[in-house]
Amino acid sequence: MIQRYLGNKNSIADHILHEVGRFCQPGDIVCDIFSGTISMSMALKRSGYRVVSNDISIFSYHYANCYLRNNTIPVFDLGLLGINGADYENIAQEVIEKKKDEVGFLFLRNQHLYELYKNLVIVLIYLERIEATDIAKQFQARYIYNTYTEEGNNSYFRSLRGTEGHRRFFTPANGKRIDNILNKIREWNDNHLLSEVQYSLLISILCESIEKISNTQGTYHDFQRELYDERALHDLTLRIPPFDDVVSTQNEHIIGRAQDSLNFIREVPKHKLLYLDPPYNFRQYTSYYFMLNLICNYCTIKNLNKYFKNVKFVRGQNMDDDFDSTFCKSDKFIESLHQLISDARTQYVIMSYYDGRNHENKGTHRKDNGIAAIVNLFESDMFKAGSFEQLAFERTNYQSFQGHTADKCNEYLFIAEKR
Ligand SMILES: C[S@@+](CC[C@H](N)C(=O)[O-])C[C@H]1O[C@@H](n2cnc3c(N)ncnc32)[C@H](O)[C@@H]1O
Repeated sequence: MIQRYLGNKNSIADHILHEVGRFCQPGDIVCDIFSGTISMSMALKRSGYRVVSNDISIFSYHYANCYLRNNTIPVFDLGLLGINGADYENIAQEVIEKKKDEVGFLFLRNQHLYELYKNLVIVLIYLERIEATDIAKQFQARYIYNTYTEEGNNSYFRSLRGTEGHRRFFTPANGKRIDNILNKIREWNDNHLLSEVQYSLLISILCESIEKISNTQGTYHDFQRELYDERALHDLTLRIPPFDDVVSTQNEHIIGRAQDSLNFIREVPKHKLLYLDPPYNFRQYTSYYFMLNLICNYCTIKNLNKYFKNVKFVRGQNMDDDFDSTFCKSDKFIESLHQLISDARTQYVIMSYYDGRNHENKGTHRKDNGIAAIVNLFESDMFKAGSFEQLAFERTNYQSFQGHTADKCNEYLFIAEKR
C-alpha cells in the first residue's frame, strides 16, 4: 500500500475498527467514502464487513479493484504475455522463499495459491528487468523520462516566482525503467491480454514501487529541487504484495470509480455505518498525488503526445486530471458534509478528524471554526438526540513539508446515529 499519504489511517485502523465493531456485525455493509490508500477499506474487509469504497483519485479505484473487491490471485498466462516462465522460475522461487515468513504471506502455505502467486512474481520480475527492445515498436516511448527527469526534453519549468530548472521527480535511470514498464503494460492492455483485475494489480504495484524511489518529501506537489533524496537513488524494484488480506474473505464489495463522494453516496445501497475521512484542509489531493493517477491512466490515454505537451506548473500536471473538491474549501466543508450525510442511507456515522499542522492554510485560520462546527453538525437534528460521542487519541502524522519525519497529533472520532 501507499505509505506516504496525508491522512493515511494505517496506524490507527485498529482504534477505528474497535468503534465500528460497537455498531456492526461481520457481514454488515460499511462505507468508506474517502478511501485514499484503502487502508481502512482493507481493515474493514479483514474484519469480515462488506465494504463500499470510493475516492476521487483513480489510483484508489485500482487499489480497491485488485485488493478489496477481488478475493483471489489472478491467473497470469505467461505464454500469452510472451514470457518464458522457465527463465524466471528459480529467481521467483527465491523471492517467494524470502517472503514466506513475512506478515501477509501465510497464503503461500496453500499449494494452489502458491502456484498462482508464482506466476504473478514471474510477471513482476520480467517487468522489472524489461528493456525497451522487449516492447513492440509502436509502444516504445519516453514520456516519464522526458517530462519528470532532469535529462528530459519536456522537463523544463519556470515557477511563478521565476525559479527555473528541470523536473527531477526520478533519476533519469528510474525514469526510463518506469517508461519501459508502463509501455509494456500498455502494449498488453491494448492487445486485450490483461483482465481488469490484472491491469489494476500491475498498475497498483507500480504506484507502490514508484513511491519508494520518488525524489519527493512524500507528495508529488513538488520534488527536491537541489539534490536527490537518498531513497530516489535506488533502482526501481517492483514490490511483492502480501495477499493474505486479499484472499481472507469471499464477501462482495462495492467500489466507486473516482467519483465525487457527493454523487456516489446517492448510489450506495442502505448500509449500517458510514465512515468519513474527508480532506478538511486546503490541499487538493488530485494535485498533490497527480503522479499516482497519471501512472494509473497512462495506458488508456489516447494521445500521449498531446497529453504531455499540456502539462502545467513546476510539478508538470495535465490539469484535465484535476478535481477541485469542495471538502478542501473551508467555507464549503460543513455544507458538503451536511449534504453527504443527509443523502447517505446509513444508520451510523463515524468521522475522522485530526488537528495536524497542515490543517490550516499557511497560518490562516479555517473559516468554518474547525471542530466546533463539526460538533454543531453532529448535534443537529440530522442525528438522534443524545447519540453524539466525540473521542480523541494521539497518532503519528506524516507531514509532507517536514521531510520524512513524523509528528504527533490528536485524532478525533465523531460518532452519531442518524435519525
Ligand atoms: C484524509 S484522505 C483519506 C485517507 C484514507 N482514509 C487513507 O487511509 O488513506 C481524504 C481523501 O479524500 C479524497 N477526496 C477529496 N475530495 C473528495 C470528493 N469530493 N469525493 C471523493 N473523494 C474525495 C482525497 O482524494 C483523499 O484520498
